[in-house]
Amino acid sequence: MKLNVLKFGQTSFGEDVFLYNFSNKYIDIEILSYGGVIKSLKVPDRNGNFENVVLGYNSLKEYENDPYHYACITGRIAGRTKDALLKIDGIEYQLSKNNGKNNLHGGDKTLHNRNWQSKAEIVEGEGVLTLETFSPHLEEGFPGNVNFKVIYRINKNKVTIEYNGFSDRNTYLNLTNHAYFNLSGDFKETIASQDVKINAIGYGRVDEETLPISIEKEDLFIKMSKYSNLNEVLESKHQQVKIVGGGIDHPFILSKDSEYDVELKDEKSGRGLFVKSDQPVAVIYTGNFLEHTHNGICFEMQDYPDIQNFMPSKLKIYNKIEKYQQNTEFLFDIICKN
Ligand code: GAL
Repeated sequence: MKLNVLKFGQTSFGEDVFLYNFSNKYIDIEILSYGGVIKSLKVPDRNGNFENVVLGYNSLKEYENDPYHYACITGRIAGRTKDALLKIDGIEYQLSKNNGKNNLHGGDKTLHNRNWQSKAEIVEGEGVLTLETFSPHLEEGFPGNVNFKVIYRINKNKVTIEYNGFSDRNTYLNLTNHAYFNLSGDFKETIASQDVKINAIGYGRVDEETLPISIEKEDLFIKMSKYSNLNEVLESKHQQVKIVGGGIDHPFILSKDSEYDVELKDEKSGRGLFVKSDQPVAVIYTGNFLEHTHNGICFEMQDYPDIQNFMPSKLKIYNKIEKYQQNTEFLFDIICKN
């Protein structure tokens, strides 16, 4: 494992942003101290050619103004919180409204657009990047002074992300990473020719604001626990595909009975991505509103979105005693030819 540290730029507040480049014979990954963003991730195709499979920008300025949440740490609450209202201990917290009347991904001035304290090292052949930041009580309206610690680990062909949140008072947290994957390599093609397998029991039917309203197990627009060609899904006339701008933008309730929660494969390049998480849900988004539509697919491994309305009985509270933690791993491999 090799580690290279570069200065990537300066934020508009004059802080130095670092780029950490870990590479071994399976993976070459760049991660920024800004937003914990995965700037690029190169893995080999079946002929051994390393190419980038995660959407990124060239400059820090673009990350500071990114409406798409490219590969960043996302939170305090990933996804949409209806009416931007969070109720904890009977108190209603008014969150910032940055998506119509809802809160999206914790607001605009939050974990993804700040520079984190960062420390990189190689421990017994494993690349380890530790990122820390503090979010004060009522930042973007959320309760609790929270210390966040996110650890990226790169080991052989696997990237693991561990998220931790330590709050001084009752709150709710739900973090994820918002990487857009495209296994064609250097974005030669959209994701349409790639195949996805979601090991789920159903999905969350969404309304016109993309808020989940019910769990759907029958009226499917994608096969569950079987590979589906993405083109068929993206082109589908299903009301749930149309309502999110043509594609997927839905939570999937993971079945947790398979080795991996989500799998993506690209027959042409031979690349495969296998995702496993300790979280109950994968919010899958096919970049329906990107400048280059469907140029990447996000596997946002997380808790139930809009949990207080969608799945209130599953709500967890985090505080000094109950720390927030989640773990997700992304494994890259060469797939067998069909
Ligand atoms: C996704 C969300 C999409 C879109 C996107 C923007 O997670 O589901 O609807 O808002 O983030 O970054």
